[in-house]
Amino acid sequence: AFQVKIASTGEVFDVEPGMTITETLEMNGIYIPTSCEEGWCGTCMTPLLEGVADHRDTFLSDSERYEGKIIMPCCSRARSDALVLDL
Ligand code: FES
Repeated sequence: AFQVKIASTGEVFDVEPGMTITETLEMNGIYIPTSCEEGWCGTCMTPLLEGVADHRDTFLSDSERYEGKIIMPCCSRARSDALVLDL
């Protein structure tokens, strides 16, 4: 598991294996708009303030991945222990 923190509120949630970030947040009443839920449409794009994403999408460009300031939370996960989302 890794943790996701909501920057605006300081809330922290554990994202368990088999659960996506968006599913985990939804269970806690935080709704990120989604559509494809497979990483190709771009609907769920979310600014990333801290942490290193494990990008599983096919939407972001190589330079966006390298810069590390955006994550597609419907499918991507974390390489670091925690991600801080600008929500
Ligand atoms: Fe389509 Fe996340 S919902 S990329």
